[in-house]
Amino acid sequence: MEEFITINQIDKAVEVIKNKTKYQPKVGLILGSGLGDLAESVNLADFIDYKDIPGWPVSTIEGHKGRLVIGDLEGKTVLIMQGRAHYYEGYPITQIGFPIRVMRRLGIETLIVTNAAGAINPDYKPGDVMIITDHLSLMAMGGENPLRGPNLDEFGPRFPDMSRCYDPTLIKLTKEIGDKKKIVIHNGVYVCLAGPSFETPADLRFLKIIGADAVGMSTVPEVIVAAHSGMKVLGFSGISNKANLDGSTVTTHQEVLQAGKEIVPKLEAIIRGVLAAM
Ligand code: HPA
Repeated sequence: MEEFITINQIDKAVEVIKNKTKYQPKVGLILGSGLGDLAESVNLADFIDYKDIPGWPVSTIEGHKGRLVIGDLEGKTVLIMQGRAHYYEGYPITQIGFPIRVMRRLGIETLIVTNAAGAINPDYKPGDVMIITDHLSLMAMGGENPLRGPNLDEFGPRFPDMSRCYDPTLIKLTKEIGDKKKIVIHNGVYVCLAGPSFETPADLRFLKIIGADAVGMSTVPEVIVAAHSGMKVLGFSGISNKANLDGSTVTTHQEVLQAGKEIVPKLEAIIRGVLAAM
């Protein structure tokens, strides 16, 4: 697979999607591990399998359906990614941003992104929801930045600002909706690691010291690409497990999928509220 994406490849995918749906989505939604059921309540949806979109990275992971669901939710036209590809599946980091580029060229202005994450913050428990207020991208710091390679000037500048990549207005709105619906929502910092192995206890103690509240293997590459192109981003972590800082427990993918069942109704209520108020 080629490392760098061209505008022609992006626009080919855009054409295919436009030919398969009557909708013009304005909001994009990425549903992470175990959270895909959120897409089931979209009205009169069009479905497009990732494998039918040229260049679209396909996920091989259990709990990721691998299709777009496009339709109306709370009066907004949304394009939902029911599952996502991850860096650890073998894609170049630049390819992980491909769907976001396509969304932008389709006219999407706001991205709501979700993931399953382990809790580093001792106040969090499985089933909780966290708004991502900022992120630590150890991968991007280490060189695996999704914007590496020739800059696509159609989207944004060579050196994009990242000081407000999670939209403060959307965060405030989400907190108000959580209060109104009596759903506890944490504010926290998400750290993205390459995966697929979970962290060692020493990894986790390090991540705690550097300021992470939740840890996962996704989201940050997509958010960097979205911020580059001027999209507003709202990010959520569904807390699926306590991170194992003292080595006393083990983390499994089944546990992550199980916690998703508790998180989906909460996230659905919050996201519906946000969409209705947007
Ligand atoms: N670590 C990394 N990624 C994860 C975890 C975790 O504990 N839980 C869900 N995704």
